[in-house]
Amino acid sequence: MSTSVIRVLTGITTSGTPHLGNYAGAIRPAIQASAEPGVDAFFFLADYHALIKCDDPARIARSRLEIAATWIAAGLDTDRTTFYRQSDVPEIPELCWMLNCVTAKGLMNRAHAYKASVDANTAKGVEPDDGVTMGLFSYPVLMAADILMFNAHRVPVGRDQIQHLEMARDIAQRFNHLYGQGEDLFVLPEVQIDEAVATLPGLDGRKMSKSYDNTIPLFEGGAKALKSAVARIVTDSRLPGEPKDAEGSHLFTLYQAFATPAQAADFRSALAAGLGWGEAKQALCERIEDQIGPMRERYAELMAHPERIEDILRAGAAKARRIATPMMARLREAVGLRAVAGTGAARADRAPGATRAGRARIVSFRDEDGRFRQRLFGADGAELLLSEPFADPKALNRLGRAFAGRDLSGLAAAADGLVSLEDGGVCWACVPADRLSAVQEALARL
Ligand code: TRP
Repeated sequence: MSTSVIRVLTGITTSGTPHLGNYAGAIRPAIQASAEPGVDAFFFLADYHALIKCDDPARIARSRLEIAATWIAAGLDTDRTTFYRQSDVPEIPELCWMLNCVTAKGLMNRAHAYKASVDANTAKGVEPDDGVTMGLFSYPVLMAADILMFNAHRVPVGRDQIQHLEMARDIAQRFNHLYGQGEDLFVLPEVQIDEAVATLPGLDGRKMSKSYDNTIPLFEGGAKALKSAVARIVTDSRLPGEPKDAEGSHLFTLYQAFATPAQAADFRSALAAGLGWGEAKQALCERIEDQIGPMRERYAELMAHPERIEDILRAGAAKARRIATPMMARLREAVGLRAVAGTGAARADRAPGATRAGRARIVSFRDEDGRFRQRLFGADGAELLLSEPFADPKALNRLGRAFAGRDLSGLAAAADGLVSLEDGGVCWACVPADRLSAVQEALARL
């Protein structure tokens, strides 16, 4: 059984066009990490977050399309990973509200981004909250919902996001404490800062960033735009034939980010031997083009067929919702947003279940949509699974009974980390792989 699947999740705010620095610093390492065995990766377009920063609908629409196409063209395996738009998963804002209800306002007052706005306003002598929206103020709560919804273990982000991760943990802890009844409803996520990842210098040697206007385009403008940007890289005035030190040169840093160690070593010696900057730039262009060229073609193809991107994102959202929907049902139940009939009984049954040692139980109930579901409680009263909804309660009961005493050890998790418990081709419930042995134990003790 795969207990070691690590769920890694990160969001990309859709308010710009990716440049070469975004590719080498974020997209490429994330895609590489997602291909490692034992990693269950979730990447999503944080388009609700983008609304906080940008009120230009055309730009929002364009950016989410470009970013989706970029990740796909760059080689993201959208079958193996879960790739979706935040706004296609309505359970996320629903959870966000629940989290808002347990988040201390004082915690949000301490958020760096909010404090920076307040400080800037104070310096200007205007109202402290001038221009601050509730979206900006509660940004970390939405981010916590993104992460906690999927019980992510690890969240790779930039340093500027560390505080947001701490807040997500705080909020999760509080929610677990209030509603978990001794059980953790949410995993506490760990921040992951990749020190080894390249921060590319821009044309002028400072960090490549749109705000410095020193970027090299990734796909925009084709090979020509790449070439003309590289031509504008600032170098010193040493002439061809004069030895050049690779260490001090951001042109070399850029080269290194797209070269094998052997290629980089050759380039270093060529510079030391007096390679001219003009030729060096040409060599750099070739290195980048080697990697980016084929992707650019895929990118153009995707941008010409946005319906393909849409299909991929919708499939991703459906996959995400297979986790989010049962999670939300569980959370609604936990906070007391239950159906007035059926579900209440399930809860009433739970306490005695916890005391009647040695016995697990299946409890059936009717959900808000009028369909029937079952919950499996372990001998200690902990809830272990929530079944799929069924229109026919008898069929559901038969299915549930069919699992009593069943050996689940041969079942494998899908890429999303869930194991589907099926009988006769019908799925009774999906459970996270790491809970399979607890489920099996309970099924043996019904
Ligand atoms: N705030 C992140 C950023 O600006 C983007 C983001 C939104 C995110 N939700 C997230 C990152 C959840 C990680 C997890 O970079």
